Amino acid sequence: MTKISPSVLAADLSNLAAEVADIAAAGADMVHLDVMDGMFVPNITFGHPVISSLRRKSNMIFDVHLMIDAPERYAEQFIDAGADILTFHVEACKDPRSLLEVIRSRGVMAAVSVKPATPIEEVYPLLDSCDMVLVMTVEPGFGGQGLIPETLEKVRKLRAEIKKRGLELEIQVDGGITPDNASEAVSAGATILVAGSSVFRSNDRKRAIEALR
Ligand code: DX5
Ligand code: ZN
Repeated sequence: MTKISPSVLAADLSNLAAEVADIAAAGADMVHLDVMDGMFVPNITFGHPVISSLRRKSNMIFDVHLMIDAPERYAEQFIDAGADILTFHVEACKDPRSLLEVIRSRGVMAAVSVKPATPIEEVYPLLDSCDMVLVMTVEPGFGGQGLIPETLEKVRKLRAEIKKRGLELEIQVDGGITPDNASEAVSAGATILVAGSSVFRSNDRKRAIEALR
């Protein structure tokens, strides 16, 4: 079944623990935590101290999306903070294979992500070393944007390549996911849908999650 990972970017960040508890009760499978450094993307959110504080208040699966330059500098601190899934961008990392190995060796799901303009073939050499690929469906940096339709073609190609190789990888899509395009993303091969605005900004989050699923 398709898994839903609401992004707290659209939540009330002054009430993070309560917001995460609320989407857990509404049926979310995990929570998506967007880390931005103001360098890799033109925006800043929060870092590992916030995640480790939240870890003490929540048993949810923490799906941590690093949008930071040179993620190898901080990956282990995010693992120590409580990440269950750790995603970094291939565009930001010199030696992605080594970083994937470090993440896996700590018992955490390891994932790479690509921005909309990055060819999906760039992750092909890494498919044996990772557990998930996050295909960005908007330009990373901000919530509330519209999905770029061409990115779903990348999802289709990637799913075909994974199948051809007999692998069992999750494909996550992130950015502009709504009940109107969720089924197209899933048909393309996505298994985890990240959704910020369409869950947290809804006045019935349970229904919003069901609609996405
Ligand atoms: C964007 C982030 C996304 C974002 C999604 O850079 O990676 O996770 O929060 O938000 P929506 O669903 O509002 O596009
Ligand atoms: Zn994200």
